[in-house]
Amino acid sequence: MEGILADMLPPEKLAQVPKTPSEIEQAKLRLRSRNTASVKCPVCLDSGYVHPIGENGKTDYSRVENCKCVASKREAERQERYLKLCELPEDTEDRTLESFQTKGYVILEQVKQAAMDMLSGKIKMLSLLADVDTGKTHIAIALCRKWLEMGKTAKYVFVPLLLQELRSAYKYRDGEESYDYKFEFYLNVGFLALDDLFREYHKAENDWGMEKIETIIDYRYIHGLPTLITSNKTLDEMNELSAMIRSRLIRAKNSQVIVIASPEYVTIRKKNG
Ligand SMILES: Nc1ncnc2c1ncn2[C@@H]1O[C@H](COP(=O)(O)OP(=O)(O)OP(=O)(O)O)[C@@H](O)[C@H]1O
Ligand SMILES: [Mg+2]
Ligand SMILES: [Zn+2]
Repeated sequence: MEGILADMLPPEKLAQVPKTPSEIEQAKLRLRSRNTASVKCPVCLDSGYVHPIGENGKTDYSRVENCKCVASKREAERQERYLKLCELPEDTEDRTLESFQTKGYVILEQVKQAAMDMLSGKIKMLSLLADVDTGKTHIAIALCRKWLEMGKTAKYVFVPLLLQELRSAYKYRDGEESYDYKFEFYLNVGFLALDDLFREYHKAENDWGMEKIETIIDYRYIHGLPTLITSNKTLDEMNELSAMIRSRLIRAKNSQVIVIASPEYVTIRKKNG
């Protein structure tokens, strides 16, 4: 049977492969006495290695290969890693595109459609401008989740914390915590959600931070990388804070700005049940 002896077979121990009929019998006996209830992969018994089937159709105990379960384990590890890098706010599993209600509001239908157009690649840069509690963060999280589901990288960031994060990254010289790594990730990540741009932002105090955000938005605009921006500022207010950012949001042919003028979601929910 393919792989039945494999748990005794890390490659460096090839010399110990049971070869004679009695060695093989003994190994089988040892395996049978093992508690297999917790074993996830019945092929390799979770060792990750199997003996391939030789040309004669019989198991070739002199060789070992990676079991198929290794690939799916690697895939699961990758997904976990991407989810971690995305840094979604906790307890937000329920904020999905499916759970985003439009309740008959045309503007919310437009928002949902635009989110789907981002997924399909029709829109590259989407700006949602609205007051509090209108579902901006909900959409940002939902889109990140979709990107991760597609096996791509995504990053959610509450913009006021982005600046703090970049500042504190200066103390790390290299690795995933370092400034260079983080900044490069913001530039090139598969999907970037910049949530709450310009919140509590005062121009005079924060030129360093604004320059970083301008660079990120400009770079992603130039390279056509999917970017969602949410803000409680109007385009006019943005113009005061960064004319450059405002121009990027409205300029690209595959960009869309939606001003959500619906009432706060709590009000909608109360009204419509
Ligand atoms: N259209 C919607 N359908 C379903 N849930 C919604 C919708 N709009 C908002 N919500 C829910 O209402 C709550 C507040 O929404 P959210 O945090 O996305 O608002 P926001 O626009 O980001 O507000 P703020 O400006 O304060 O950050 C969340 O729990 C969100 O899931
Ligand atoms: Mg929000
Ligand atoms: Zn396996």
